[in-house]
Amino acid sequence: MTTGTDSRAGHGGSATARPLDGKVAIVTGAAGGIGRAYARGLAEAGAAVLLADLALDGARAAAKDLEADGYEAAAVRVDVSDEAGVAEMARTAAERFGSVDILVNNAALMAEIMGGTLTGIPLETWHRTLAVNLTGPLLCARAVVPYMAEKGYGKIVNQSSGGAFLPSAHYGVTKLGLVSMTMSLAKELAPKGIRVNAIAPGWVNTDAGLSTTPPEVRAALAASIPIPFGDPEDLVGGLVYLASPASDWVTGHTLNIDGGWIPRT
Ligand SMILES: NC(=O)c1ccc[n+]([C@@H]2O[C@H](COP(=O)([O-])OP(=O)(O)OC[C@H]3O[C@@H](n4cnc5c(N)ncnc54)[C@H](O)[C@@H]3O)[C@@H](O)[C@H]2O)c1
Repeated sequence: MTTGTDSRAGHGGSATARPLDGKVAIVTGAAGGIGRAYARGLAEAGAAVLLADLALDGARAAAKDLEADGYEAAAVRVDVSDEAGVAEMARTAAERFGSVDILVNNAALMAEIMGGTLTGIPLETWHRTLAVNLTGPLLCARAVVPYMAEKGYGKIVNQSSGGAFLPSAHYGVTKLGLVSMTMSLAKELAPKGIRVNAIAPGWVNTDAGLSTTPPEVRAALAASIPIPFGDPEDLVGGLVYLASPASDWVTGHTLNIDGGWIPRT
């Protein structure tokens, strides 16, 4: 869904108070697709952003784009399934920008592990999917908690998927696992002032998402979803809300942003 608005409105030099002024955010998987839009959205809302990705060149390019527009941004290479690397990522954000207030657990394996069945996929694929999509967000959360706890305030947003609520094999297992992890971490971290929520997007136009879906599947989806497809930018408002003080009484929640794909009661 394209709004036609100028995404550069609220430029880094703007004198208007923004909801995330003075905050520091880490976005994992920020080299492209949704993560890159998330990083820009947080920067436009006032945050300094560390873009973390396995694909360092992409993360660097995205950070450079933000800096060119007057925002504070930096890039770092990380494998979210590597505990030491993730700790280094959190340290880098704190050293570079002074603290960590917001973590967006967006990195995941998706297009590259899609297809196959739970009874048929190689065990190696199962383990790697869990390591990146589920253990990764937990490691990232653990790494930032000390920085947030020190201030008594923080926001963690986990990127789930509408696929969590439909049969989606190993991918869906990890995304529904994230919904559960969100609820548990919300309870566990509330006394430290840290809110933990999730976003479950529907079908989004990214290289890894809708763009790789065969035309006949796309047509069937379009016929069954009230507002069929979204762009990464359609998720940004929800993210900024969950990252900002406006959502301070919201925790453990999974927000479906999906054009009505997954009806929830
Ligand atoms: N596109 C969609 O339709 C859709 C729908 C629902 C949920 N999602 C979720 O949104 C997120 C982003 O999706 P996208 O479409 O932008 O996909 P994408 O593949 O473009 O983005 C994923 C990013 O994660 C990075 N990454 C992969 N493994 C990593 C690792 N071990 N450590 C660090 N970074 C790693 C990749 O390099 C990539 O930049 C994912 O969590 C995905 O599951 C996407």
